[in-house]
Amino acid sequence: MTAPVLASTRAELADLLAPARRSGEQIAFVPTMGALHAGHASLMATARARTTGPVVVSIFVNPTQFAPGEDLDRYPRTLADDLLICEKEGVDIVFAPAVEEVYPGGAGAGPLDDSVTIDPGQLGRVLEGVSRPTHFAGVLTVVAKLFGLIRPDLAVFGQKDYQQLALIRRMVSDLCLGVEVIGAETVREPDGLALSSRNRFLDAEQRLQALALHDTLQAARQAAPWGLEVAMDSARAELRSAHGVDLDYLVITGPDLGPPPEAGEARVLIAARVGTTRLIDNLPVTLGTSVGKASTGTSGGDLTDK
Ligand code: PAF
Repeated sequence: MTAPVLASTRAELADLLAPARRSGEQIAFVPTMGALHAGHASLMATARARTTGPVVVSIFVNPTQFAPGEDLDRYPRTLADDLLICEKEGVDIVFAPAVEEVYPGGAGAGPLDDSVTIDPGQLGRVLEGVSRPTHFAGVLTVVAKLFGLIRPDLAVFGQKDYQQLALIRRMVSDLCLGVEVIGAETVREPDGLALSSRNRFLDAEQRLQALALHDTLQAARQAAPWGLEVAMDSARAELRSAHGVDLDYLVITGPDLGPPPEAGEARVLIAARVGTTRLIDNLPVTLGTSVGKASTGTSGGDLTDK
């Protein structure tokens, strides 16, 4: 195993990537905010398997995707441990820039300043976008910047942040960015909890309570063959038996986060607060033909929210 080379400036990154560009090697990219865990390692493994050229991982806690009062300051920063994980996964280059390197014009936490940014459109205003209205503008803007700096052939994102993945696919398609976007499956603890950098904020009791998210999604998945209504009822029943979980949304949508199909492939998504930690998760579901009343809801299916 060879340790990845660390670049902290745009110039260093450009120098490191120059040989691969000259020889036409495929560049694979995994954007992260650090605090790496097995979920990130699987994204890196996916990237590593896809190219004999360089795998680049960025580690950058992007201030513009956090609104004031969100957890920017308490977001874990663990660079030394992160580099070990990158080394184990055969990453060649780690790009860990300072904020000024990515936002030379400045980037206060929260709403973006007056520079050109990416508007995520309607898809950025539903689900996560309701409680985090500036979040996806920050995510898409930093990903577009990183794509511009790295110019990857392919980039790997986790399905756990499903709305983010959908929006990045839309950005790449709508803005003709020419990057292949790969959505890697969510990595889970043996009991089903989706791996997340935020899980470290859960105490032992909250860690148990957080299982309700996966159990709720599973209940929807298992009931999905009986149709949308039954799937939602089953998920709600599961959630009613949960403790310490403050639901934000529970929804079944189409795979593109549009309205769910009458029958066929769909997605069930949940967001909830456990203690002070906001968690999200989702699963694919296959809807059977609905029994009972027709579906209701406003943004792609039958919604349960606070
Ligand atoms: O998913 C994340 O970790 C971040 O949103 C991303 C894509 C690295 C952008 O900051």
